[in-house]
Amino acid sequence: MNFDIWALGGALLAIAVVFIWTIRTGSPPTPTSPAARRAMLAILPRHLPRVFTEDKPGAIYELGAGWGGMALALARQYPDDSVAGVELAPVPWLVAKCRSMMPGHGNLEIRYGDFHASDLSDAGLVVCYLSADGLARLKPKLEDELPKGALVLSNTFAMPGWRRTDETAAGDIYHSPVYLYEMSDDMTEEDRGAVVATEGKPARRNRP
Ligand SMILES: C[S@@+](CC[C@H](N)C(=O)[O-])C[C@H]1O[C@@H](n2cnc3c(N)ncnc32)[C@H](O)[C@@H]1O
Repeated sequence: MNFDIWALGGALLAIAVVFIWTIRTGSPPTPTSPAARRAMLAILPRHLPRVFTEDKPGAIYELGAGWGGMALALARQYPDDSVAGVELAPVPWLVAKCRSMMPGHGNLEIRYGDFHASDLSDAGLVVCYLSADGLARLKPKLEDELPKGALVLSNTFAMPGWRRTDETAAGDIYHSPVYLYEMSDDMTEEDRGAVVATEGKPARRNRP
């Protein structure tokens, strides 16, 4: 009986903490669906661009790592690259931190904190699944800090004003769009025309 009360109290406390941090960050810790995750991993190149030197690839950042599912999948897809997941909400962060300790994810680090305070200047790939507002707030930071050639992959929300490099759609019921960008001197969006999206396959190159 006592155990039941403690378990119920703990669960309610965890839900309350998740709710409070959702208000604080503006993004609930909704995990990327397995279908969207497959589409996101498939649109990425097999080898990430070497944005610095041939010997030192850029780091992979997952901004708002939630419960860690996407960060773990990135660590498995790129075992030779370092992956950092940054999460501000304590309950999802704790779960992601524990999951990152599972064998086979030695290249993954789950960090607690606000990703606006993270230095992204060594990034080769930034992955995010935020809200439309959250993405718009992140935009100037990415433009200031990311090196040329770095990739930005966004689940569901397009970066306002950026010309996408590729686009695909997940095979889930929402056909969630997935957007890929490459940092360059001129990323201003132009008239792109119609884009046909298929799960796991780049829809169309949008470069001129
Ligand atoms: C929609 S969830 C995505 C979770 C995970 N990326 C995934 O794809 O499964 C967005 C996450 O971003 C986190 N978040 C939002 N703003 C943040 C910030 N400024 N710093 C760190 N985490 C943030 C939220 O707490 C939430 O867990």
